Amino acid sequence: MATILSVEGVFVSFGGVMAVANVSCDVGRQSVTSIIGPNGAGKTTLINVISGAITPTDGKVIFEGQDITALPPHRVAELGIARTYQNLRLFKHMSTLENVMVARHIKTKSGFFSCALKLPLSRRDERAIRENAWECLEFVGLTQWADMDAL
Ligand SMILES: Nc1ncnc2c1ncn2[C@@H]1O[C@H](COP(=O)(O)OP(=O)(O)OP(=O)(O)O)[C@@H](O)[C@H]1O
Ligand SMILES: [Mg+2]
Repeated sequence: MATILSVEGVFVSFGGVMAVANVSCDVGRQSVTSIIGPNGAGKTTLINVISGAITPTDGKVIFEGQDITALPPHRVAELGIARTYQNLRLFKHMSTLENVMVARHIKTKSGFFSCALKLPLSRRDERAIRENAWECLEFVGLTQWADMDAL
C-alpha cells in the first residue's frame, strides 16, 4: 500500500522527560491507523508533532513526500492534516451546520476584501462550504439538527 505519512525516528523531550523516544511509523493511503499505548506513553505528543503543534527534538514527519516537521499548524492543516480533540470546543450562538462550515474555510480561495464585499468568488466559496458541510452532517446523521444552536 502506498504511504501517505511517515514518522521517522521522532524524539520529543520536555526538559528531563522523554515523552517520545525514537518512534517511526508509516500510514498507508486510504487506511485507518490507530495508535495505542498506556497513559503517558506519548500518544498525544506524537499527534501534536504530526499536526505541527510541537516541533520534535529530533526526527522527521514526511507527508506526501514533503518534509513537514518544521511547518506551523496552519500550514500543516492546509495540506490536509486535521485533528480533533477529546474535549469539544464548539462556537456558541452558531448552528450545527455553521460549526461544521468553520472547519472548511481553510479550503477557500477568496481573501479578506472579496469576503467583506461579498464578491462572486466569496459567494461561490461559501456555497461550496455550505454544501460540503451539509454532506458531512448527512454522513453522521445530524441534518435534522443543522439549524439548531450548537451550544
Ligand atoms: N507539555 C509538557 N511538558 C512536560 N511534560 C509533558 C508535556 N506533555 C506531556 N508530557 C509528558 O510526556 C509524557 C507523554 O505524555 P502524552 O500526553 O503524550 O501521553 P499519552 O500517551 O497521550 O497519555 P494519555 O493516555 O494519558 O493521554 C508523559 O510523561 C507526560 O507527563
Ligand atoms: Mg493523550
